[in-house]
Amino acid sequence: KERTFLMVKPDGVQRGLIGEIVKRFEQKGFQLVGAKLLQLSREQAELHYGEHLGKDFFERLVNFITSGPVFAMVWEGDEVIALSRAMIGKTSALDAAPGTIRSDFAVHTNFNLIHGSDSPESARREIANFFSDQELVSYTKVIQQWI
Ligand code: GTP
Ligand code: MG
Repeated sequence: KERTFLMVKPDGVQRGLIGEIVKRFEQKGFQLVGAKLLQLSREQAELHYGEHLGKDFFERLVNFITSGPVFAMVWEGDEVIALSRAMIGKTSALDAAPGTIRSDFAVHTNFNLIHGSDSPESARREIANFFSDQELVSYTKVIQQWI
C-alpha cells in the first residue's frame, strides 16, 4: 500500500481546521497510520523544504512553517500520493479547483493550510524526516475491501 506525508500547517492549526482536514481524508477512504502535533525546528523545516533552498520565498517559507505547531500525518491507500494532492488543490488558492481544501479554506499562497508529498521519493524522505518506524502503525480495516 502506498503511503504519503500530509501536514496541517501553522495557519490550519490556528484556524481550527485539523478536524475538518482529517475528516476529508478519512471520508475518502484513506487509512491513518501515524499522526502528531509538533513544533518544527529550523533544521527540520529546512530539511523538509530542501528542494526550495535558494528560492526567493525560502526564508519566508521556513519562518512560516516554524511559526507555530503543525499536525503531521502519514496516510495509506491506493494512489494516496496523487489523490491527496488532488484533494489539497493547486499551490495558489486562485488556481485551486472548487471543492479542494485550498480552494474551500485558503486565500493566500503563503497561507495554504496543508502540505502533501508530491512523489513516492518525497513521501519516503518526508515520512522519515518526521516519524520513527515505531510511530507508524500497520493494521487492517475490514471496510477497506469496499473502498
Ligand atoms: P507544499 O505542499 O507546501 O509543498 O506546497 P506545494 O507542493 O503545493 O508547493 P511547492 O512545494 O512548490 O512550494 C512549497 C510552499 O512554498 C507552497 O505551499 C507555498 O506556500 C510556497 N510557495 C511556493 N511557490 C511559491 C511562490 O512562487 N511564491 C511564494 N510566495 N510562495 C511559494
Ligand atoms: Mg511541495
